[in-house]
Amino acid sequence: MTLTAHSQPGARLPFDITRIRRDFPILKREVAPGVGLVYLDNAATSQKPVQVIAELTRFYRDHNANIHRGVHTLSVEATELYEGARVKIAAFIGASDAREVIFTRNTTESINLVAHGWARKFLQAGDEVVVSEIEHHSNIVPWQMLRDERGIVVKYIPMLPDGTLDLEVARQIIGPKTKLLSITAMSNALGTIVPLQEIIPLAKAQGALVLIDGAQSVPHMAVDVQALGVDFLAFSGHKMLGPTGIGVLWGRLPLLDSMDPFMGGGDMILSVTMEHSTWADVPAKFEAGTPNIADAIGLGAAVDYLSALGMDEVRRHEIEITDYALRRLADVPGVSIFGPMDALQRGGVVSFELEGVHPHDVGQLLDTRGVAIRTGHHCAQPVMAALDVPATARASFYIYNTTAEVDALASALEATSAFFGVGS
Ligand code: ALA
Repeated sequence: MTLTAHSQPGARLPFDITRIRRDFPILKREVAPGVGLVYLDNAATSQKPVQVIAELTRFYRDHNANIHRGVHTLSVEATELYEGARVKIAAFIGASDAREVIFTRNTTESINLVAHGWARKFLQAGDEVVVSEIEHHSNIVPWQMLRDERGIVVKYIPMLPDGTLDLEVARQIIGPKTKLLSITAMSNALGTIVPLQEIIPLAKAQGALVLIDGAQSVPHMAVDVQALGVDFLAFSGHKMLGPTGIGVLWGRLPLLDSMDPFMGGGDMILSVTMEHSTWADVPAKFEAGTPNIADAIGLGAAVDYLSALGMDEVRRHEIEITDYALRRLADVPGVSIFGPMDALQRGGVVSFELEGVHPHDVGQLLDTRGVAIRTGHHCAQPVMAALDVPATARASFYIYNTTAEVDALASALEATSAFFGVGS
């Protein structure tokens, strides 16, 4: 029995949006009578194709059991599916060994695992962790907590007014005391793509480790951990067509071996006596308790779906749609776009403001026309502070979005602009 046969990557699909949209039933729904959904909140979470939904249903319907512990048929099947998903995900990010893939809940938990398991063990007071001003809070707060507990120093690579990073300052602050560069590959608030190929060598030259927050990049472009030459990669399943509640920390095997576990309990031990316990090998050492079995398998199906499309094609589509959106929104009266204006320098994220109108009001008016965008600080308050705005409105794209949907966004914004009398 080949449990995963129906979800293996198939022949390479042509990038046919009409066909892709048929896989996402939610895109056909109305949010009010006669008001169709235009889903442009993909940086927050993506929609799920029928292939992923079917995989979840099939697991619970046909194979549900706990893993690693049973000798019975269902437990063996569940273990095979769960570990099979790990193998698929390892291949997707270019990992050489599936044991380097640790299942977590999300990117936040993955970064916290490094903060607890590696940084708490190996960093001393005065050691420096370098992040950037455009990080999501999940790549700032764990390091500030460690600073307060252990006296490490957190340094920031500043953002320039165009939403890119100041590489001159990066060269100055990454130095002999830097022990970790923990940096996003793509800003969730602005879409800025960070030039990792220029920044990573600065850290490596100092002997520092590098952690990449891939929450926004892994779903949208080919990411290869070997080619990047990094030490850790954190990402979430739910932004890449997978279920919520499943994420990944990839780390180099010797590093993972050297780290302390984050949580103690079942499945992560080798032996337990009344006095003392020893740890299982990775990845089990970091997966205490019953893991999120079904959602890991669902993420495996999501990876199959993206692999069949081809990540270079995914990126190509997003460059096209982002370029179109940048040009289209720039023509709407009162709209100012934040971040780089070149689609090659940003992912499928366009953050903007409408002159004199609070982003929440923009979001609500767009919702009446079925256009779903995000408004707020996007868990990136330092970016808002640097832009000197309380919040932005943010449209974010994925594989199923069309230029017609960008037109719907632009029309809804034009109507909003007229409603508030912007520029009159
Ligand atoms: N981090 C998610 C976002 O950017 C929730 O919207």
